[in-house]
Amino acid sequence: MTEITSLKDGLVADIESTDTLDALEALRVGALGKSGVVTGLLKTLGAMTPEERQAKGPAIHELRESVTAAITARKAALETAALDARLAAERLDMTLPAEVAPQGSVHPVSQVMDELAEIFADLGFSVATGPEIEDDWRNFSALNIPETHPARAMHDTFYFGDNYQVDGKAMLLRTHTSPVQIRTMVSEAPPIRIIAPGRVYRSDSDATHTPMFHQVEGLVIDKGITLGHLKWTLETFLKAYFEREDMVLRLRPSYFPFTEPSVEVDVGFTWVNGQRVMGGSGDAENGGWMELLGSGMVHPAVIRNCGLDPDEWQGFAFGVGVDRLAMLKYGMNDLRAFFDGDLRWLRHYGFSALDVPTLSGGVGA
Ligand code: DAH
Repeated sequence: MTEITSLKDGLVADIESTDTLDALEALRVGALGKSGVVTGLLKTLGAMTPEERQAKGPAIHELRESVTAAITARKAALETAALDARLAAERLDMTLPAEVAPQGSVHPVSQVMDELAEIFADLGFSVATGPEIEDDWRNFSALNIPETHPARAMHDTFYFGDNYQVDGKAMLLRTHTSPVQIRTMVSEAPPIRIIAPGRVYRSDSDATHTPMFHQVEGLVIDKGITLGHLKWTLETFLKAYFEREDMVLRLRPSYFPFTEPSVEVDVGFTWVNGQRVMGGSGDAENGGWMELLGSGMVHPAVIRNCGLDPDEWQGFAFGVGVDRLAMLKYGMNDLRAFFDGDLRWLRHYGFSALDVPTLSGGVGA
């Protein structure tokens, strides 16, 4: 009996005087491990007579409990001490200035979208959004592009196929921002004035086409809207965007299923040191016309598809590539570099987070 008590006292004393976790673990194995002393004693219980077991059992169990408790307590104390030591050594002064300045910059696409929002907000437009995974009806049918229409083939659409349908409608990656027109007309009562910037997708890839790119859609629905309103709005937008008063627009008859009449808008540019600079007369000696955007008066069928009466409500719409707008203003020439995530490109073409476009401060940066 005293043997067990002195064994216990010895073990507990050893445990309490260990000063590393490794040494403590060694003691634990020596006492409670498979061939540890305490484990050995516990094993002798099986071979004892019931009387012997009654006499010695409680002391042996008490030995195991005391040793276990001593190890647990010592372990906690050593861990706390280790943590305190680390905290003291690794103290961080959060008020010190950063050694490396933040590396990020605002992508030109984001910057241009902010510029567009600023310009159009001033004209009374709000920003609308829609999902990139769209249904066939909003992306095509409601926009007056029925299933058999050749325009569908022209869009190089990414379809999800039979595995993914919603409410029996085929799902796809939207090929343009025009479905946001439908979403807005269905959910909001006119008058409507929105722009809808966002990502669009087409199965197409070369120096001027990427499978994902950005568009901004514009939509106005009101009473008595004419092509004149469209032209003034686009002209005002382009003057503000390129920060030049001498923007010249040419409206060419065109065809889009969702507008009637449809016009393609060309912008005059001037050659300066072998570079095209937007602005100036398109037919001057050293200039020309550049096709910039598609637009037109919203087709009565589209207005009707959204539950509105085309005899009461008219409007215009336009759609333009945001990446292209950025390239023309900031001088990049390869669209693919926009999406490479190359830090050198971003450092060159990116914007400071503080460079918030405002009409008063200039949207040009
Ligand atoms: N959705 C057309 C496209 O992606 C662009 C477009 C043309 C949008 C005319 C319009 C519009 O709103 O009126 O090619």
